Formats: sequence, structure tokens, C-alpha cells
Amino acid sequence: MPDPEHPVPSPAWNSGPGLAFGGDYNPEQWPADVRLEDLSLMKEAGVNLLSVGIFSWALLEPREGEYDFAWLDEVLDNLAGAGIRVALATATAAPPAWLVRKHPEVLPVTAEGTVLERGSRRHYSPSSAVYRRYAAGITRKLAERYKDHPSLALWHVDNELGCHVSEFYGPEDAAAFRRWLERRYGSIETLNEAWGTAFWSQHYASFEEIIPPGAAPTTLNPTQRLDFQRFSSWVLLDYYRSLLQVIREVTPDVPATTNLMVSSGTKSMDYFDWANDLDVIANDHYLAAADPERHIELAFSADLTRGIAGGEPWILMEHSTSAVNWQPRNRPKMPGEMIRNSLAHVARGADAVMFFQWRQSYAGAEKFHSAMVPHGGRETRVWREVVELGAALRSLGPVRGTRVQSRVAIVFDYEAWWASELDSHPSEDVRYLDLLRALHRSLYLRGITVDFVHPSAPLDGYGLVLVCTLYNVTDASAGAIALAAEAGATVLVTYFSGIVDENDHIRLGGYPGAFRELLGISVEEFHPLLAGESVKLNDGGTGSVWSEHVHLAGAEALNTFTEFPLEGVPSLTRRAVGQGAAYYLATFPDRDGIERLVDRLLAESAIEPVADADFGVELTRRRAADGSSFVFAINHSGADASVRRVAGTELLSGAPFTGTVSAGRVAVIAEQ
Ligand code: GLA
Repeated sequence: MPDPEHPVPSPAWNSGPGLAFGGDYNPEQWPADVRLEDLSLMKEAGVNLLSVGIFSWALLEPREGEYDFAWLDEVLDNLAGAGIRVALATATAAPPAWLVRKHPEVLPVTAEGTVLERGSRRHYSPSSAVYRRYAAGITRKLAERYKDHPSLALWHVDNELGCHVSEFYGPEDAAAFRRWLERRYGSIETLNEAWGTAFWSQHYASFEEIIPPGAAPTTLNPTQRLDFQRFSSWVLLDYYRSLLQVIREVTPDVPATTNLMVSSGTKSMDYFDWANDLDVIANDHYLAAADPERHIELAFSADLTRGIAGGEPWILMEHSTSAVNWQPRNRPKMPGEMIRNSLAHVARGADAVMFFQWRQSYAGAEKFHSAMVPHGGRETRVWREVVELGAALRSLGPVRGTRVQSRVAIVFDYEAWWASELDSHPSEDVRYLDLLRALHRSLYLRGITVDFVHPSAPLDGYGLVLVCTLYNVTDASAGAIALAAEAGATVLVTYFSGIVDENDHIRLGGYPGAFRELLGISVEEFHPLLAGESVKLNDGGTGSVWSEHVHLAGAEALNTFTEFPLEGVPSLTRRAVGQGAAYYLATFPDRDGIERLVDRLLAESAIEPVADADFGVELTRRRAADGSSFVFAINHSGADASVRRVAGTELLSGAPFTGTVSAGRVAVIAEQ
């Protein structure tokens, strides 16, 4: 329980009366009169946090060793005067021309050997010792100059590490990969064993013989690819750490972060591995305008971000007020959608709502990307909604620092995402996220919140644990999942899980090796389905993508395949385990089949939705350490919706909650 005499201090980046609110601020693109107008508009909207200087290196250091901080001094002084806190960028996300002309070896090289030139951004390799030296140099200059500046609340290290290019194949990258492998394996024989190099004459006599898995005639060694993926995630983190070291030396008390890109589309970085080095998790999220269920993808991203944050509140560092500029057709957000999006992130754990960017650019590649201040200025729908959002966030101060409640865990592992989707597998249609997101969607629509938990993290307190396509798993993680069932959880394991160990070596003796005993089954042979093919199941439903020859070994069959050659073979099984149960799913059920399965799992684990609500209402609950709680009800439908079993004060209006959420609107209810 919190001690009322010693309340937990608000973090410096979130010291306003409500939740933090703002965006990327690029004042270097604008003359002085516009920068002055910015201050009054920021006041009008209630902005209190800005990321500044992300792409400003070429202006801060126009020639090597020659610095111009005057403009940034003025900007930061003015922001401090306006009471606005700053996430100060290290300015390292786009090196200046002089640096690249002098040291072209810092440029990224693709798998095909193409050198990626300057003229856009992110044109450096994180392995480059020269780049690291220069990046540390400008970071130190900034830190020393602004270490005592009253606006400095947070460090924004580089920007979206791994965006655009996440794998690097130049000579320096190859050397760094070899050093990483030496540290991982110690001896070349250990590597040969892990990579299974007796196959196709791939045996290595020394680490010097190894190259990154680039362009090759056919399927590359899968463990080499998995290790290169691990290395590529690590080397970006290692580059982040090299800048963090400078920041810690000069400003030990200022927290630091970098903006992640957690979504269903970002696979390359193992963000669970990064989390410890970020003082607060920050995420950027953009909707796919063409996706009719984009609000559900948003919920997936926000839940996964909270999982990476270990349940702690996090910063939504970027999203868009309306259209972006980088999709094939860039539709604006619908009226009210931006506010729903913003509060949906808050509903799932964000304590700060920020945008790319404050003022829409008039030149450059992003001039058609929306912003808080559109080209049309104040007389626009976007600006009115920005002001409305600012007021809403000011009223949500009581929510700050509270934690999202969930009794359902989905075990999530970037390594399983990487390994399960390598090539030369039984079916290219087995994609890591597909079944996982179908289950997440079903729970979302029922008003049940899911936590994403790394396989190495504890599962205590979860009544339902979903293990989807966890193709590669360690003995320890498989053991912890079995223990959760023993202790009373209902555990579901889906097909193509537990097949290999961390080296991508088959666990012999019958699939799914790591979970065979827990599930009480053994799979003899996979029967992946053809594109578009489905098979009939005994309960009247169908399965697609996958079927397989399952034998019972202690479990009971709840459903079966009905067609040759698998007629009568179990497609869904259950085994009672200790205080709990373990289910196995051997196909991808149709939508009704998913619902029947989720009904059953929820009934068995006695998990209930946050409240009763009409269809289309997103529901979550955040709870404070003192027991007070807040229900978020977000009405994504076009009709007014009723929400039952919730009572209290609706924070956005300050009035008692009526039980109705208007079409497209949001209610945040402080429960009594
Ligand atoms: C990313 C970047 C921003 C901007 C936006 C546009 O999130 O971090 O600088 O380019 O994309 O959507």
C-alpha cells in the first residue's frame, strides 16, 4: 500500500496536473514568428511534453567540431518558460553530410551488398566504431550543455532504432557478428554443434570463416539465421547502450528511453531483451488505415507494449492525429477516432500521449503527414480534437501510475516469431501472430484484457495461459508453463509449439517434444493444409492451415478431424493437470470454433469481462495500489451503447456515470 506521508513522486516527464501530452517538436524547420506562435498554441492545447531535436544534428554541428546551439538554447528556454518539459533527443538518427563524406564506411550495407546512401535518414550501421564515436560525441555535447536545463525531463536516444533497416551486412557488421558468436559459444566446435553444421558441408574451422547469412543459392542454415537475428537485435541495443553510457556519466539523474515500434508489423527487435535498459518504455504506433479492425490491432500493440514494460505505465511517444504519408492510400482518421485511439492506449497502460508531430511540415518527405497543428492551422477539425484531447488528458490525473488488470496471459516470444517463420518448414501459412491474434481478438471483443508475458517471466496469478505457436522453447520455460497448469491455471498450447530447442534442433521422440507430457498427447506426423483448404471437424466447425496426426497419451479428445486420412484423430484435447488443465489445439478453427474454444477456456478458468456492455465497446480496468480503480469504456460503434455493472464518476465530464457511452465516445469511470 502507498504511504500517504510519502507519495510516489511523479516522473519528471509526467509532472503536469493530468497525463503527459505533446509530440515531436521540430522547431528548426520554422522561422522565429512561427516558433513564437507555437508557444501560445501549445498553451491552448495543454501540451506539457515534447521530443526535441531528433533530426537536428546537421544544424547543431554544421561542420565537424563547429557547433551552433543558439537556436536550441532559445527553444528550450522558451519551453521552460512555458512550463513544458522536454524529452531531449541525442540527434543521432540522421548523420550530417560532412560525417558521411569523410567516413562512407558508416553507411549501411544490405544482404545483397547494396550501400544505402544519404539523402533520407537512418543511414548508418550500429556496428560502426566510427559512427559510435561521433554519435557519442554529439550526445556528450548536448548532455553537457543542457544537463542543468529546467526543461530536461527525459533523454530520447536516437529514434526508432531498427526502423527502415534492421539488419546490416557490411564488413564491420560481419566482424561484430563473429565477435558476438565467439562470446556466445566460446569455441568453434560448440558453434558447429549448435548450428548443426555436419549438414551440407557447413562445418567451420574457425570463427573467421563465418559470414552473415546474406544472399545465397537456397535455404540458409536456420540456426545461423536465428543467431543473426539475435545479433541484429542485440547490436542495435548495444549501440543504444553506448549512448546511454554517455548520458549516465553526464546526467545520472535524468531518465532515458528510446521509442520502440511495437506492433503486429515489427518483428526484428526482441524488445523484451531491451526493456531493462529503458528507464520508461516508450512506443510509437500507427494504424493501417485500410484495416477495418485497426482499433483491435492498436489494442494488441498497447497490450504488448505493457508486457514489455513489465506492467508499468509507459509513454505513447508517437501516433498520428490523422493521415500518415507512407501507406499506399493515406486516409484521414474519422472524426473522434484520434481521441478514441489516444484513450485506448491510456486504457492499456499509457501515461503519456504524444504525436508525430507538433506542426505539420511544409517541406520534405513528410509534408503530407498529419500533425497536431495542420497546414490549415486552428480552424480545422484536427486542431479542435487536439484541444479536446488535451482537456481530456488533464482530467485523467487520478489514473496516472495505476496498473491495468488482467488474469489472462499470452506467452509472447520474439525468438519464436523469428524461428517459427524461417523457411523450409512444413507450411509457410503458419505465421506466428495469426492464431495468437485471433485469440486476442476474441478476448478483446468480450471485454477481457490480456497481458503479454515473456516465456521466462512468472505466470503467477493468471487463470488462463495461452501458448501460441511457441515453436522454440527452452526446458525452463516449458517447465514453468507446466507448473502454471499444476498450480491451477487453464493452459492452451496450439500446434507447432514445443517442436525445437533454443538451437532450433528437433526435440526427438514425437511432437510437441517440450509439451508432450503436459498435454498427454504425441503427434506422429504433420498434415499442413493447402492454400485455402479447410477440413471438417466433429463439432460441425472447420479447421484451416494445419492438421496433424495426434495420438492420445493421457489426454481426452474434445473434438476430432472427420476426413481422410485423419478421421477420428483428435483436433482438440484436454488433460487434467494438478489443480488446472492443459488443452492442445491441432488446427486453426473457424471464427465460431475460436469462440466456442474461448467460451470453454473462460468457463474453466472462471474469468469474467470487466463489465457488461453492448457490442463495439472496448473495456479495461486500471487499478491503483490503494485499491481505487478506473474503468475505460470506449465505444467504437456508431450507436450509443450501454455499459452495465459499473458505477462511479465519469472523469472526462466530471459527472456521475449514466450507464451510456455515446456513439464514438469514451467514458473513464472512477469506480465507487
Ligand atoms: C516514425 C518516425 C517519425 C516519423 C513518423 C511518421 O514514427 O519516428 O520521425 O517519420 O514515423 O509516421
